[in-house]
Amino acid sequence: MNLHRIAVVPGDGIGPEVVEIGLGVLRHVADKYNFKIETELFPFGGEHYLKTGETLSDESLNKLREFDVVFLGAVGAPDVKPGILEQGILLKLRFRLDQYINLRPVKLYLGIDTPIKGKTVDDIDYVVVRENTGGLYTGVGGISMKGTVDEVAVQSMVYNYKQVSRCIRYAFQLAEKRPRKTLALIGKTNVLTHVFDLWQRVFNDIGASEFPDVSRDYYHVDAACMHMVNEPERFDVMVTTNMFGDIITDLGAITQGGMGMAASGNIDPTKTNPSMFEPVHGSAPDIVGQNKANPLATIITVKMMLDFLGETKAAVEVDRAISATLSAGIENLGTAEIGSNVLNHL
Ligand code: NAD
Ligand code: IPM
Ligand code: MN
Repeated sequence: MNLHRIAVVPGDGIGPEVVEIGLGVLRHVADKYNFKIETELFPFGGEHYLKTGETLSDESLNKLREFDVVFLGAVGAPDVKPGILEQGILLKLRFRLDQYINLRPVKLYLGIDTPIKGKTVDDIDYVVVRENTGGLYTGVGGISMKGTVDEVAVQSMVYNYKQVSRCIRYAFQLAEKRPRKTLALIGKTNVLTHVFDLWQRVFNDIGASEFPDVSRDYYHVDAACMHMVNEPERFDVMVTTNMFGDIITDLGAITQGGMGMAASGNIDPTKTNPSMFEPVHGSAPDIVGQNKANPLATIITVKMMLDFLGETKAAVEVDRAISATLSAGIENLGTAEIGSNVLNHL
């Protein structure tokens, strides 16, 4: 019997609420499909930081390396200065575990209303491959002459060939497996002429030499935002930088029914380090503790995690239960009710 070891980091705000539901789904399918999961809870987040001063120490990080995957809710707390938990926990995990792909499917489920008039499940079904270890997120930069009128603040978009080529190659491999075999590079070649010169050259070189059967498109990121609303059916797989990927996937999330519907995987495709699965949304302090958080983003995340772990049957079954729950309707249902409806359909 397969055993999967899962490090669980519920985190802040609605993180613990949705993670609890996600774990219930995992336990249920593990029983039904004959595999074992072993979970260990880790306290990283705002409360732990305020109590101990630890965001995520190197020692804790090394402990997480012993697991097959990490399952994370969200981090970020109103009583901690912005950036401390996000950089100290989430970005540290993504960077140090070299999870260089952030996979974010944008898929409209039947039974969910998209705010885009006239669009259906046939029109909104694409995947964003967000580069996850570089760009503006590296924190390269600084402030000088702080507090004076001459103050200068710099934050650099940093990419090297290795980061760009491994991300683009992964995106081509993904596009090659999908029926439409189309990959769009999302960039800003008209302004960010250094970084996107590199991205576009690597995109065309790898595409032409290794993936001649995959069609290549290019969009400036601003135009891509327009098309994501106007004509989302254009897209099959998109590949982009860390910052652009962050921004466009919140837009994508709204088109698929809101932050409560968007799932993601932070993947190390080499499997040297554990990959990490988390909903796209944050800790949502505005709705914490009110039974208002939609747990479906987390349940779709669990489905992605099951696929990654090779539990394909269980993943298909979770997806079917999500669809069944949606076709019965989730309007006016709270976090717990949506969770138990999914369990009932399993
Ligand atoms: P957010 O995603 O937490 O919330 C944005 C809006 O979406 C809010 O109105 C919220 O109520 C709503 N929302 C989010 N998840 C929902 C769900 N499951 N169901 C229903 N509604 C949902 O983004 P924010 O407000 O910009 O950030 C809040 C905190 O979370 C910040 O500290 C931020 O840094 C952090 N954050 C963390 C992650 C992460 O851990 N992966 C991601 C994004 C933001
Ligand atoms: C996300 C979040 C994070 C990001 C923040 C919290 C650091 O917005 O996962 O989309 O910018 O990547
Ligand atoms: Mn984001």
